[in-house]
Amino acid sequence: MTASKIIAISGSLRADSHNTQLLRAAQKFNPGGLDIEIYEDLRDIPPYDMDLDTPERRPAVVAELRRRVLEADGLLIATPEFNYSIPGVLKNALDWLSTDWTKTEGLPLHRKPTAILGAAPTNFGTVRAQLALRQVFVWTNSDVVVKPEVHVFRSHERFDGDGNLTDQVTIDLLQGLLSELRSKAEAARDRS
Ligand SMILES: Cc1cc2nc3c(=O)[nH]c(=O)nc-3n(C[C@H](O)[C@H](O)[C@H](O)COP(=O)(O)O)c2cc1C
Repeated sequence: MTASKIIAISGSLRADSHNTQLLRAAQKFNPGGLDIEIYEDLRDIPPYDMDLDTPERRPAVVAELRRRVLEADGLLIATPEFNYSIPGVLKNALDWLSTDWTKTEGLPLHRKPTAILGAAPTNFGTVRAQLALRQVFVWTNSDVVVKPEVHVFRSHERFDGDGNLTDQVTIDLLQGLLSELRSKAEAARDRS
């Protein structure tokens, strides 16, 4: 079987984001069978507007994100915690990915194999943000990996000065999460 295509989205726009570094670590410590592409255009996604949410009127950057997610075998999302929830930029992108009002295109997130993780310098390490993110994926009926949970707390202690993930416990958890995502992605491909 060819590798499953995974779109990886970081909820942080910060250049030195630990969440983006986690996605780079996912590429580096890929347990095999996954082709992980990091999505780079989150900052360009405009605010959700239902009047524009049609195949004809959707902004090009949104149409492109929807196409990529529809075509992908799975999603990997690394979220920071902002005010006990997920960042608005991430929620906004997920809102654009959650619809198909004309019932002609398919729902990009419907049954999509999805893995979530998150990093924060605090002691709680995105526990609340990840719960909020799981709640979003209930409405979208996405196929979310339940365990392992990967809460990278005190994230500043787990990367070296060049942004490389160096903490072995986190590397092991990350690989466990990716293996579960691979299982879901391969099962979904077998069904289709
Ligand atoms: C607006 C804002 C709200 C935040 N709220 C929380 C919070 O509720 N809980 C928490 O643990 N950290 C919070 N933080 C700290 C983030 O966890 C921290 O900025 C983290 O490094 C962001 O991830 P990044 O390294 O990927 O950019 C907040 C940061 C910002 C900018």
